[in-house]
Amino acid sequence: MVVAVALVTGPTTVRGSRAALLIIDVQDCFLSGGSLAVKDGDKVIPVINKMREKFEHRFAVVVISQDWHCPDHVSFTTQHKDTAPFDVINLTYNDKGKLCFGDSVPRSFPHAVDCEGNSNVTVLPQTLWPEHCVQNVTSGPTSAKISSRLTIRENDIVVKKGYSCGVDSYSAFFDNGGFRQTELDDLLKRNKIELVVVVGLALDYCVYYTSKDALDLGYKVLTVTDATMGVAAETTSAALEDMTKIGVQLILADDLEGALQERSQAVDPGMMSMCLAAILGILLLFYVIRI
Ligand SMILES: *[C@@H]1O[C@H](CO)[C@@H](O)[C@H](O)[C@H]1NC(C)=O
Ligand SMILES: *[C@@H]1O[C@H](CO)[C@@H](O)[C@H](O)[C@H]1NC(C)=O
Ligand SMILES: [Zn+2]
Repeated sequence: MVVAVALVTGPTTVRGSRAALLIIDVQDCFLSGGSLAVKDGDKVIPVINKMREKFEHRFAVVVISQDWHCPDHVSFTTQHKDTAPFDVINLTYNDKGKLCFGDSVPRSFPHAVDCEGNSNVTVLPQTLWPEHCVQNVTSGPTSAKISSRLTIRENDIVVKKGYSCGVDSYSAFFDNGGFRQTELDDLLKRNKIELVVVVGLALDYCVYYTSKDALDLGYKVLTVTDATMGVAAETTSAALEDMTKIGVQLILADDLEGALQERSQAVDPGMMSMCLAAILGILLLFYVIRI
């Protein structure tokens, strides 16, 4: 019975590896009408939905990440005097990954500590953003809601990111300092995932850093370039260039389609041996019963 079902739906693999689809931050705040709308960002939604429609069964796990910021998150321009969106400031963290008071973080900021005398600090550049994807906000420009136009299924797993008030998190795996991680790697490892297909927003930030971390964590990574969109031309081309260099495979949604179709015409060796084992088992059963 199990074998029969598996034959109808095909294996949960992409190019022979057990696969997960990672849909990054397709949320109201990053779409048209959102406070940090990615230009043409809405165009990724039908591409992702179509990918799911056609290849749902190829993904053992589908993860939807959600940028989920405190209302006074350190990455918001509103938290820093005399700054504008896209300004870059330096933030200092102590050896426990806690944000330190300093030039750009006043003592009134509730999520920072005094790092006086701490010699082992890390300085991170922080791009400042308009308030976006605020926890529990479900309407208006800062809404953190996953787009209602995105196909969502009951078994999809939502992974929240960026919820530490004092540190930003572009990647769905780690915060920007690598201080803490989300449950994503554990979840993929538990499901024996070998390959991740990354889509969503935005190409030059969260999709880029998620792809990069996935590669560092040992996964094969396919990033679907027509199922993602960048914030700015310069950072987008830099991200694409770096991904190519480090070994992220950049593909078009149609390439995934082509690769899968080729594979399903060939007989999968794993599936073949499963069928043989099942037939042998049944023959053995008959033999035993007759005796
Ligand atoms: C941030 O730190 C870097 C390296 O230490 C320095 O070059 C840069 O000027 C600093 N930027 C700001 C805004 O202080
Ligand atoms: C959002 O809602 C959750 C669950 O009700 C709550 O624990 C959390 O503190 C809320 N966050 C904010 C910023 O209101
Ligand atoms: Zn954010």
